[in-house]
Amino acid sequence: MTSSFEKTSQVLISREQIAEAVKRMAHQIEIDYPTEMPLLVGVLKGSFIFLADLVRQMQRPVELDFLRLSSYGNDTRSSGRVRLRMGVTSLVKGRDVLVVEDVVDTGLTTSYAAKYLKRKGASSVKLCTLLDKPSRRHVPMAPDYVGFTVPNQFIVGYGLDFNEQYRHLPDICILTGGNHEP
Ligand code: IMP
Ligand code: MG
Repeated sequence: MTSSFEKTSQVLISREQIAEAVKRMAHQIEIDYPTEMPLLVGVLKGSFIFLADLVRQMQRPVELDFLRLSSYGNDTRSSGRVRLRMGVTSLVKGRDVLVVEDVVDTGLTTSYAAKYLKRKGASSVKLCTLLDKPSRRHVPMAPDYVGFTVPNQFIVGYGLDFNEQYRHLPDICILTGGNHEP
C-alpha cells in the first residue's frame, strides 16, 4: 500500500495496523489501572492524533492534559536540549500520570516530561508511546506501553512531522528521497 504522498513517503505501518495497536494499548491501560484511570498527558504536537484515538478506545472516563516540549529544531536530528514550551494545567499532585508520546527516540524528551511531572508531585509516571526507536536511545528507558518498535529511520504521518509537514497522513510513513535521513 502507498500513501497519497507516493513520491515522498512509503507506508511503514498502515492505518489498520495502527488502529489495532491503539485498541490493544487502550485495553491494556484499563486493565493495569483497575481502580482509577491515570491522567493522560500528551506531548505536543506529535501525540495529538494518537491521544485522540487512544481515549476513544477507552471504556472508562479519563482525564487528559497536554505538555509542549521541543528538542528538535527544523531538522531530523535532536538538538539534545529539551525546552518546556507549555506546561499542564491539571492538578498532578498525588495522581497517577501516563505520558503519551508519538515516538521515543533518544529518550531526552520523555525523561524531561517524566521529571517535570514527578516534580509536580505525581505519585506515579508511566509512559505510553506509539513508536519506539530503541536503537537511538541516549537516556536508558523502557516505555511501559509500546505500539510498534521501529528501525532508525525518519518517520512521518499520524501526527509525526518533518518540518511541520505530513502530520495529516493517516498511515505511518518513511520519507524517501531528499535529505531526510537522521
Ligand atoms: P527524543 O527526545 O529524541 O526521544 O525525541 C522525541 C521527539 O522527537 C518525538 O516526540 C518527536 O516529536 C521527535 N521525533 C523523533 N523521531 C522522529 C521521527 O522519526 N519523525 C518525526 N519526529 C520524530
Ligand atoms: Mg513529539
